[in-house]
Amino acid sequence: MTRAEQPTVVSPTSDTLAADSRERAVRALLRVPPLKRLWSAQLVGGIGDALALLVLVLLSLQAAVLEGSFGAGYRGAAFAVAAVFGARILSTVLFGAVLLGPLTSLTAPGGKLDRRWLMIGTDGLRLALLIIAPLWIDWVPDKALMMILITVFVAGGAERLWAVAKESAAPALLPAPPIEGAAVRPLPDHLDALRRLSLRTNFLAVPAAAVVLLIATLIGNLLGTGLEWFSFHQAALGSYVAAGLFSASISILYFLELPDTQTPRPRSPLEGLRRPTHGNTPDKGRTGALPLVVAVSAAVAGAIAAAAAVSVLHAYDLGGGPATFALLILALTGGSALGIRTAQKVLPALSRRRLLALATAVTGVALLALGLVPDTATGLALALLAGYAAGVAANIGHAIIDQETEASRQARTTEHLQAIVRVLVALGAVAGPLLAAAIGQHRLGGGDFVFDHGGAAYTLMLIGALLLPVAAIVLAKTDDRAGVPLRRDLREALRGGDPAVAPAATGFFLALEGGDGAGKSTQVEALADWIRAKGHEVVVTREPGATPVGKRLRSILLDVASAGLSNRAEALLYAADRAEHVDSVVRPALERGAIVISDRYIDSSVAYQGAGRDLAPTEIARISRWATSGLVPHLTVLLDVDPQTARERFTEAPDRLESEPAEFHERVRSGFLTLAAADPTRYLVVDAGQEPEAITTVVRHRLDRLLPLSEAEIQAIEEARRKAEEEARRKAEEEAARKAEEERLEKERQEQLARLRAEEEER
Ligand code: TYD
Repeated sequence: MTRAEQPTVVSPTSDTLAADSRERAVRALLRVPPLKRLWSAQLVGGIGDALALLVLVLLSLQAAVLEGSFGAGYRGAAFAVAAVFGARILSTVLFGAVLLGPLTSLTAPGGKLDRRWLMIGTDGLRLALLIIAPLWIDWVPDKALMMILITVFVAGGAERLWAVAKESAAPALLPAPPIEGAAVRPLPDHLDALRRLSLRTNFLAVPAAAVVLLIATLIGNLLGTGLEWFSFHQAALGSYVAAGLFSASISILYFLELPDTQTPRPRSPLEGLRRPTHGNTPDKGRTGALPLVVAVSAAVAGAIAAAAAVSVLHAYDLGGGPATFALLILALTGGSALGIRTAQKVLPALSRRRLLALATAVTGVALLALGLVPDTATGLALALLAGYAAGVAANIGHAIIDQETEASRQARTTEHLQAIVRVLVALGAVAGPLLAAAIGQHRLGGGDFVFDHGGAAYTLMLIGALLLPVAAIVLAKTDDRAGVPLRRDLREALRGGDPAVAPAATGFFLALEGGDGAGKSTQVEALADWIRAKGHEVVVTREPGATPVGKRLRSILLDVASAGLSNRAEALLYAADRAEHVDSVVRPALERGAIVISDRYIDSSVAYQGAGRDLAPTEIARISRWATSGLVPHLTVLLDVDPQTARERFTEAPDRLESEPAEFHERVRSGFLTLAAADPTRYLVVDAGQEPEAITTVVRHRLDRLLPLSEAEIQAIEEARRKAEEEARRKAEEEAARKAEEERLEKERQEQLARLRAEEEER
């Protein structure tokens, strides 16, 4: 079987190689034993921390109801919950941001505090706090809430101290850089993987803690049937399990050895809050959608946080207790984790921006219904749906943000996003219960129709309802398919399913894409000269119109007199031109091993006839795939340019497509960007606003890693190796000759010496 028959199947929607390599980097970290140990401690301690927070929420509720603080009843309970989250946020900000500087210098190598003992100490402190926590209600019934809030505050501070110690210790455990002595500092990729691992662990700790709480509550209920104490202290067992988790973390850390090396500065939870600016202009992203997408992603996260914060109240409203609470938290946060992981597979053919709006709307509707429906089972399903949709929105939002940002600025933008998300999550967690307290319990209607809901239910409805206009604004302001009915797009996306495509086995196929006036022809020429100079055969070609038939098709397509040509006919004519082009020019050249550079290829059709006109991009791609038997370029360079700027570059009278209105060209541009974002390994997006030489340099950099070696290059390498070998041989021979000469002289000297001695003796 030849390589052509055995293609690597790549589809534009498959998980990208880049994401895959990041994933591998994260896994690789866990193969370093001390890091794995530290990570286990973080996971166990993280679950303990989340569980402790859930338990303390339950205890605060119980204390508030018993002592009637904040005014008795529903309002008092809701205030107590808000106070718990408030205390936690206060300590996180205080210890994580305000005291970060002094803490860091204390834990630095050679500082006053040993990092391992700091972690063990803060674990021990939390262990003690959680053993005592359920007892406050018995000991000081009228001050129990106060004591629980203090517990929350201290435990939150302990968590931050732990994190500071861990963040300053972890990078020192990273594997050494591959080049010996290159740098003592860890590689940026490793640090990035470390951050990802840490973020993921913290996030998964919450649903895991909900599962533990659920199990502990069920066991506690069983014990409660026999033991009076456990039926009163429903959350006690959860508290003890959390204490147990901290002791497990201690025993893991006890055997951990930390090298005493200088490490990077730990990060504050507020890091990244300042806008990532470039010069003085605020960064709006490639198409200006960046601020809105950041805002929506954070709003959805905040909504889920608010829902989670009121879920304890809602659980009691539904007639449940700690178990229902644990289930609601599990559905919301576990659903989100699932949504983040599987988002790329959700309706892959739908425009990502439309999917973001859709996921936001689904989150809103699900939260609204969760507040409305007074049934536990339905409520749990709705909470799961809300969590899942929010997870999808988070992932897609992030993908769009990456697509909007230059590669060099992506890390900073992500950090900025995460900081805003943290702020909104904190805000949601406090505002949710406060709102529930402000609304209180209400009973509407009478007779057969009774609408009896707590403040939590109204809060859920309100948050859900607020997300709907947010979704509408995203759709209105960032839509890259304006003018195409959403319903039709959705139907197409649901049908889905793309046949496989593959690059050629020999030669190298490079496509240049971009809107009119992006400067493709200049780049094609410059790159062709450069590649030719390496000794390759280069075939420069274009679409439409590279073949005799193609030339006639081109004149039909671009003639202003063809105005009114139907969209489908236009798509098929471009596909016909392409079929002829691939068959008679591109494939034969690739089979000879040539480097083919095409000015435009399939993506132009997907962007112009798909995204630009109101045809489904997937259908257009399918037609082209059929026309080319699935031949895709090894690399597609997208020269991205603002259509307005490009228009100013036109020198000749505009052809039929160039005369299309501005919105058309905007849609074409996002069409190209969407394709590129789906497969970063096979695309290179370059800002075409730069000087032509700068653009060529960027492309050459990428090509240097991808192009096969030419005959001339292989010969040159051979030649160099031969020369080096010859040189080495010559050196060796010289050395041998020198040695022989030395030995000869030495022998002569010895002989002379012997002779002299003999003469002496004779005398
Ligand atoms: P191009 O040859 O780049 O035009 P010019 O030589 O005037 O710069 O492309 C001609 C036009 O055809 C351009 O506006 C884009 C359009 N086009 C499509 O709409 N679909 C396609 O599949 C291709 C290849 C081009």
